[in-house]
Amino acid sequence: MTDIKRNHLDVDFVRSCFPTFKEPLAAKTAFFENAGGSYVAGAVLDQLMHFYKFNKVQPYGSAEILNAAGEQMDNGRQTMADLLGIRSADLTLGASTTQNFNTLAYACEGLVNSKSEVVVTDQDHEANIGAWERLCRRTGATLKVWHINTETAELDLSDFESLLSPKTAIVCMTHSSNIVGTVNPIDKVVELCRANNTRVAVDGVSYAPHMWPDIPSLKPDAYCFSTYKTYGTHMGVMYTSEEFRSQLDPQCHYFNRGYGHKLLDGTGPDHASIAALGGLGEYFSDVHQHHFGSTDQSLFEKAQQVSSLMHAHETGLCNQLLEGLSGLPVQILGRNHTEGREANVALTSEKHTSAALSRQLAENDIAAGNGNFYATRLLEKMGIKDIEDGVLRVSFSHYNTTAEVERVVGTLKANH
Ligand SMILES: Cc1ncc(COP(=O)(O)O)c(C=O)c1O
Repeated sequence: MTDIKRNHLDVDFVRSCFPTFKEPLAAKTAFFENAGGSYVAGAVLDQLMHFYKFNKVQPYGSAEILNAAGEQMDNGRQTMADLLGIRSADLTLGASTTQNFNTLAYACEGLVNSKSEVVVTDQDHEANIGAWERLCRRTGATLKVWHINTETAELDLSDFESLLSPKTAIVCMTHSSNIVGTVNPIDKVVELCRANNTRVAVDGVSYAPHMWPDIPSLKPDAYCFSTYKTYGTHMGVMYTSEEFRSQLDPQCHYFNRGYGHKLLDGTGPDHASIAALGGLGEYFSDVHQHHFGSTDQSLFEKAQQVSSLMHAHETGLCNQLLEGLSGLPVQILGRNHTEGREANVALTSEKHTSAALSRQLAENDIAAGNGNFYATRLLEKMGIKDIEDGVLRVSFSHYNTTAEVERVVGTLKANH
């Protein structure tokens, strides 16, 4: 074991953990569409295949095969809880984050009335706005918007402080936007909300793939993200604290109310996808072992350490992109440097539509999409006229390489 390995992500090793890279189409593609959904780690695919091949039965029961299915699902659920450092009872595994926020908003109906206020931001993906807007419509509560600063596309904490009032029941915000990339000060928002008796629901979908969330330190009331963007199966993960759940309207079958993890499950579990989450723990453990050797650390500690390596690698790549773009007639939404930013860069060009940029990249086998990515309110606020054309988004994952970034920069330069 060398120090080099401890300090730098071994990209060849992590790529070898993703079977997709062995396929011809993926092998020739520089993939920067990760914010839409990442490739899936081989260990997750193995678990998924195992479930479908051997355990695809109604789980739990007296027969051995029924129990095998249940055990694989229990392992998937417990692995995700362990990765996050939370209790399994505090973990809802839903179909998607959109579904989870919708269910949560319904569960919050008893917490608000016509005298309450609910705060959303216009930096968020629609999943964490619309559900709360509809809650306000149903209950008569007032929806307040924490607007972005249109100079920076960022959310200024001072604006939030002036929005927060004794009437504020719930604040719903993103940890980092899927367009802007700036990491928002969730810790400070949680602190302000605690002192105000206000609930906080955080959208970590865009944050988690770049930096594994530290929910025990942040202590939000609810935290959501999507595992199909964190190298796993297509699921929505939702943490809720036990105390918060005790105040909510259950959204499950009445006879399941005694189970914390079922209380907000409005869809019914996708057995195979849950079972396959065990593979995510294997992936983080394998990467940890490769870089740090065998240790008896918890899965949560391993995930945090591995994620720091991934983050440092992505930040280097993001810096390479941002430096490469400097001088080109393009506008980056958000910071043009990597401090306090995730490796997820959206831009518009003075010379080309965003669709044309995406096509130019595609001609060089680079996948990076254009559009509004369901953050329409943000783009409208930033004065982007054609919301369908939207922005070009170059979103990184830890398995991207410097050579791939060179291809992106080279293509954009050649077309400007
Ligand atoms: C920031 C953000 N929030 C929420 C969502 C919705 O997640 P899901 O597709 O799991 O509903 C997305 C999806 O792209 C997203 O990028």
